[in-house]
Amino acid sequence: MENNGSEQNHHHRAEDFVLDKELKELKIEFGEQLLERLRLLEKRPISEGERKKERKGHLSHSLNVEKICLFLLEKIKTKKLAKIDDKLIKKIRVAALLHDVGKTGPANANENEQKAVMDLFSFFEDEKLPQLSIEEAVNKHAEEKDKKFILENLPKGDDVECLKKEDLMKKVYQSHIHNTAEILKKYGFKHDIIYLAASHHSMGNNFKYEEVADKRQIMKFSSELLELCDFYEAAAARSKKSHDEIVKMMKEKFSTNKKQEIDDLINLFAENSLLMDNVRGKI
Ligand SMILES: [Fe+2]
Ligand SMILES: [Fe+2]
Repeated sequence: MENNGSEQNHHHRAEDFVLDKELKELKIEFGEQLLERLRLLEKRPISEGERKKERKGHLSHSLNVEKICLFLLEKIKTKKLAKIDDKLIKKIRVAALLHDVGKTGPANANENEQKAVMDLFSFFEDEKLPQLSIEEAVNKHAEEKDKKFILENLPKGDDVECLKKEDLMKKVYQSHIHNTAEILKKYGFKHDIIYLAASHHSMGNNFKYEEVADKRQIMKFSSELLELCDFYEAAAARSKKSHDEIVKMMKEKFSTNKKQEIDDLINLFAENSLLMDNVRGKI
């Protein structure tokens, strides 16, 4: 079942190294179980399409999102767009590193369940995917040798967490928000980090996670920043679109919120085409 080609091991080590460096800089330690989940995020894109394109995995995505957040936070501070202090910067950076950890499945998923859910997340290139059932998606995208493993290891757990082969892939996708929040709770993270990590699809994709709502303006602002960085990174890494094209997409998707602060943030992206190097350059 393992996908341990030397190429992948190589990437895996590179990301591991960068993560380690970030954690030291942030003066924070993640436990071994959480680190294993983050490694899994990078290690297991099984769909052939992804492997052919030599896509980087979700840990590389998270590390990039964290870098983009940090870069823009410095600009926000200089321009006094919001009241940002070092404590908040640290929270946003940690949340950025962890925001997609729920793609490894529910907090209490065993190792095989984590791998199976991660496999499902590697199919999301397909635009029709959300409307397919898990079984249809697996038949369409997984290699023969992996199909049985995935379908046999769908997580059980409670209503939100349990996945059945007839469930839509949309449910799988949306579950990563709930799972991220539960994983962070399990490992003792504080409310602010859980809120930031679990609200990164609240504007554009509009699946809110009300359970960890926060009314403070600065926290909303921070969560919007993280969501925009997430969108930018994914678009830059997964398409050949230029910086300007991606900024245009952001305007179309997010400016509908009709909030000045969103426009200000998107303008900040517009001014900083250097961000593209962050994503497409080497880590
Ligand atoms: Fe996400
Ligand atoms: Fe993400």
